[in-house]
Amino acid sequence: MESLLQTRACFVFFSLVLTLYLFIFFLLLHLRRKKVLCNCEICYAYLSSSWSKDFNNLCDWYTHLLQKSPSQTIRIHVLDNTITANPENVQHILKSRFENYPKGKPFSMIVGDLLGKGIFNVDGELWHFQRKVASSELASFSIRTYAFEIVTNEIKSRLLPFLSSIAVKDSSNVVDLQEVFRRFSFDNICKFSFGLDPCYLESSLPISVFANSFDLASKLSAERAMVALPLVWKIKRLLNVGTEKKLKQAIKTLNILAMEVIMRKRKLGFSTQKDLLSRFMTCINDDNHLRDIVISFILAGRDTMASALTTFFLLVAHHPQVMLKIRDESEKFIPPNQDLASYNQIREMHYLHAAVYESMRLYPPVQFDSKFALNDDVLADGMFVKKGTRVTYHPYAMGRMEKIWGQNCMEFRPERWLNCGTFCPQCPYKYPVFQAGSRVCLGKELALVEMKMVALSVLRKFDFELVSPGAAPQFDPGLTAMLRGGLQVGFKNR
Ligand code: HEM
Repeated sequence: MESLLQTRACFVFFSLVLTLYLFIFFLLLHLRRKKVLCNCEICYAYLSSSWSKDFNNLCDWYTHLLQKSPSQTIRIHVLDNTITANPENVQHILKSRFENYPKGKPFSMIVGDLLGKGIFNVDGELWHFQRKVASSELASFSIRTYAFEIVTNEIKSRLLPFLSSIAVKDSSNVVDLQEVFRRFSFDNICKFSFGLDPCYLESSLPISVFANSFDLASKLSAERAMVALPLVWKIKRLLNVGTEKKLKQAIKTLNILAMEVIMRKRKLGFSTQKDLLSRFMTCINDDNHLRDIVISFILAGRDTMASALTTFFLLVAHHPQVMLKIRDESEKFIPPNQDLASYNQIREMHYLHAAVYESMRLYPPVQFDSKFALNDDVLADGMFVKKGTRVTYHPYAMGRMEKIWGQNCMEFRPERWLNCGTFCPQCPYKYPVFQAGSRVCLGKELALVEMKMVALSVLRKFDFELVSPGAAPQFDPGLTAMLRGGLQVGFKNR
């Protein structure tokens, strides 16, 4: 009996050792195939984070590598990622060979739990359908007027009163402008997307469960994309532990709130409402699909706007001559007794338009964007791309390339966009801040109008200065470029 037990114990022991051995063997094979064990200089710097000794941000290190590369393209083997700042490659990926560069399964898995089948996260037929509905809605005159009304109201009733209340304080007239713009853009995009006002930019700076769950879910989803070995987050998700557990909880809260919004719309009746969700509800019945659409639009229009506005004010604070020119231009078009500019007046202001474009050249809210190759391909610069691997174009690096913008590429100079005072657009593949080609941002025009309205109304009413003017911008890792620690700004009435 005893010897039988011993034989069984030996059998179990050897089976376990064999399983462990096979597991390690296949893991190493997988890592080698994925090149996760690559020891080249760049991969070593990535894995050991030694790049951070010389650079504040990962995007600055990538920019440095791309500037040094003769073809403006590099490869990070451990991530199976080809990164390019070459406009011809960008055109190749986003237009000429668009069908070969979908978002792909790896991306849809990373953000799939948060975005579901929303427009950002799908390819093929599902994408075509949403793109068609959304573009016809967003292009309509009525929705633009509706968006303009919403933003005008939010500026008049919340943003300006909030900043005025800060500006009257004598000693502590400081505010985190990034936080203000995040609240401002959350109110706007919620009103625009589903016709409800979360009142997030109230003077008491209330807590919003919806906004907090949204922040947490997008942060944790973005973190998935940063690990060299996706198996790690997949195992954590399977076991429902750590950050994956938190992500699941945040998404659950979001789902409940989004469903409440949809149900309320159904009860109230949506056919006469102007918001985007009501418009989608006339042609889509599936509540899960509507939920995905709502979440995608919040993601699209919230942090991108907040990021664009924050870095615009960061740059203008360092370049007072730009602020003076914007004010001078506005005086030509807006009478002194008029508070906020009209849609047509804003369209006349070419210098303001150029300043907004120029700030996003240096600080694009979406710093990089990835696709996955469906089949083997060769980029315009001759770089081979293997089927199933990731290809990233990098608007942040592109804004800093001498080959694209000339020797003064690091300077903030709105004039580079003007010819005899008239704004001249550049090739969108040199400036893919809103992406370009078939999947170009659908909210581009709305975003530009909103930025100009905010810029004008704040610059005309207040003087401001940075609390730490010497600090180099540091970004938090995430889907959109947000400044670590926000942007502390002192405000005074003019
Ligand atoms: C400064 C602000 C904005 C910037 C820089 C920006 C940038 C971008 C970029 C880079 C993409 C491509 C993302 C990808 O495919 O991975 C995109 C897509 C998109 N954007 Fe924007 N965006 C901004 C504001 C907005 C706003 C306010 C809205 C909505 C009202 C919006 C709606 C969309 C939609 C629906 C898409 C998906 C297009 C598609 O996949 O066919 N965006 N945007």
